[in-house]
Formats: sequence, structure tokens, C-alpha cells
Amino acid sequence: MDVQYEHLTKKFGAVTALDDFTLHVPDGDFLVLLGPSGCGKTTALRCLAGLEKPTSGIIRIGGKVVNRLQPRDRDVALVFQSYALYPQMTVGNNIMYPLRIRHIPKEERLRMAHDVARRLEIDALFDRRPNQLSGGQRQRVALARAIVRNPNVFLMDEPLSNLDARLRVNMRAELKHLQKTLGTTTVYVTHDQAEAMTMADRIAVMRDGRLEQVGTPDEIYFSPETVYVAGFVGSPAMNLLNVRVDSASRALVGDGFSLSATSVLEAHAVDETKHYILGVRPEHLTLSLEAHPGSIAGAVYAVEPMGNETLVYVKVGQSTLVARADAMLRAAVNTPCWLEIREDRLLLFDAETERRVPRR
Ligand SMILES: Nc1ncnc2c1ncn2[C@@H]1O[C@H](COP(=O)(O)OP(=O)(O)OP(=O)(O)O)[C@@H](O)[C@H]1O
Ligand SMILES: [Mg+2]
Repeated sequence: MDVQYEHLTKKFGAVTALDDFTLHVPDGDFLVLLGPSGCGKTTALRCLAGLEKPTSGIIRIGGKVVNRLQPRDRDVALVFQSYALYPQMTVGNNIMYPLRIRHIPKEERLRMAHDVARRLEIDALFDRRPNQLSGGQRQRVALARAIVRNPNVFLMDEPLSNLDARLRVNMRAELKHLQKTLGTTTVYVTHDQAEAMTMADRIAVMRDGRLEQVGTPDEIYFSPETVYVAGFVGSPAMNLLNVRVDSASRALVGDGFSLSATSVLEAHAVDETKHYILGVRPEHLTLSLEAHPGSIAGAVYAVEPMGNETLVYVKVGQSTLVARADAMLRAAVNTPCWLEIREDRLLLFDAETERRVPRR
């Protein structure tokens, strides 16, 4: 079922946790709410689940307004960061609990619970208790308990954040696969941009209770509409530099560099009186240790070998840029170097509004 937030506002006293928040989640979509701590992600989930009452605005599930419905009548399943399993119950009884309170006969309950447990590869743990499980296994039991109900919508609030790095990466793929197999509309909350990029069909980037941008991971990564989105998604983050336009030399001029950018200036509606922010991702900078005409000259600040690639931090004027370079590249601090920018990947933002400059 699809989910619709319409002009939702939620105030806690003087704090506005959600501010005129409007978002549509199509049926079957895996939507990730992404944003920093305190931006309103959990509040958005809790309003959808019926655990918070919105101050104003409407929420629909499957087209039907649910504002007045009790949580149990909305048929949504919540999975939290803390799995909240019943410690005295076995894995099997934990999974079957939502079926028992719905008075589903015992044989049917067992069949459904084993079916879900097999999918999540926890069937062998059916008779254990939660304290006899690893963190990842507990997390899967909590998921199984949510899935077994076959809800209209899954709501997940940072469900992987208690797991170690390796397990988190494994569970990412598992959850994504599972969601696609089940086809259940999912709203997933995280502040981890890598989780959002890897799992989402669409990402909704939030800022101070508002929706900043919504789009596919590709749209968010390659066409961020604001400096905020550009800087939030991607690791290392996008390089952002203050520049102005010099029409005579058809260049973008910043602290310590002048970049000839004829095609960029032709493609964008820019003028000399304004300030801009140039955005370029580390993979769209080509680093060279030999002088290169037309590129930005700097000096190596730090080199980070990552195994599959090398990250090189380069000092240009007062700024530090980061470039993805060849895995085998090594260079001493202060080595002179040159950065070539892929002009077709360069983004320009208006420094005043922090919004992307439209193409002509
Ligand atoms: N019950 C409450 N009473 C008062 N203020 C609240 C309450 N719940 C949330 N807030 C405030 O509302 C804002 C949004 O909180 P919310 O929990 O939705 O953020 P979040 O994006 O989930 O953050 P995090 O990533 O830290 O979990 C915050 O400023 C928070 O302090
Ligand atoms: Mg939260």
C-alpha cells in the first residue's frame, strides 16, 4: 500500500520536529528517510505508526486517512534499533507472538513462523532464547516477528545500527533482497548515507523537519539540488569551493586557482556579480604529479591508501580538496600536484540560496 504525508507538522512544545512535511511513498517502494540527528526522522515514523499525534496535516495509508486510527488498526510493523524481544520466550514464540494475539490457530502459527524463519535463516534457532543469540541473529528474529504479520507497511528505525560493521553490510543486502521478495512498502530511517544509497529505491533527505530533496540514489548522488544534499551524501564528501565567474577569461576563479570552464559557463545561467559554490566529487578529479596545463595546482596534504584506491588530500589556497587516485599512488606530504576537473561532472550552486544553478 502507498503512504502519503500531506503538510504534516508536529510540534513538541516550542520544538517543531516536522515542518509542513509532504512525501509520497508508492506501493512496494523501499523509501529511506535520511538526515542528521534531530531532523525529525523518528517523529515521521512514529506519526505514521500512530504513536504520535500530528499537530496538523494528514497521513494516508493505501489512500485512506489514518489520522484517527489507533496504531493496531493501521496494520504497520515497526522494527527498532533495540530489538525488544521477549527474553523469557523462545525465538519461535517471539516470532509467533503477533499471530497469537490475533488468535490464529496454533498449527497455522507454527507453519507461518517456520516459513519466515527459514527465509531469514534462523530456523535452526527456533527453540533458543534471545540471550543465547548474537546481535545479528536477534535482529533477524525481530525482523521475522515483523514480517510474519504480513503488514501493510514496514517501518524501520535504524534497525542495523547496533550491529558490527561487517554484519551491517551483510544485513543491508539481506534486507534489501527480502523487501523486494515480499514487495511490502517500507519506510526506513537512517543517518548513514551509505545505507541509504545502497538500500533505497528512493531517498528522502530531511533537514530541520523539512523535506530537502527526494529522488533515486542516482538522482541524489549525481544531481543534488542543494549544497546540503551534495555535502551529506557521498564518502568522502563532495568538494565544495567558493568561486566567482570571470567572463573575460571564461573561468571560475577561487582561492588559489583559476579554472577555465567555457562549457560550464555556457551551460549555466551565471553572472559576474554573484558568488557561487563549485561542487565536484573526489572521483571526478584526476590527480597528477606532473604539471598539467588547465588544471588546478596544489600540494599533497595527506595520502590515505584504502587498498582498492588511494584518497589524496590536496591543499589549494586555503582549502583542502580530496581526490580518488590510483590504488598504488604514493606521495610525500607537500609534493606539488595537479588536479584536473571533469567539467561535465562539475556542479554549480548559488552561494546565497545554496541551490543548484539551473542549466540554460
Ligand atoms: N517526545 C518529545 N518531546 C520533546 N521533543 C521531542 C520529542 N521527540 C522528539 N523531540 C524533538 O524533535 C526533534 C526531532 O526528533 P527525532 O527523534 O524525530 O529526530 P531523529 O531525526 O530521529 O534523530 P536521531 O537521528 O537522533 O534519532 C528533536 O529536536 C527532538 O529533540
Ligand atoms: Mg531517531
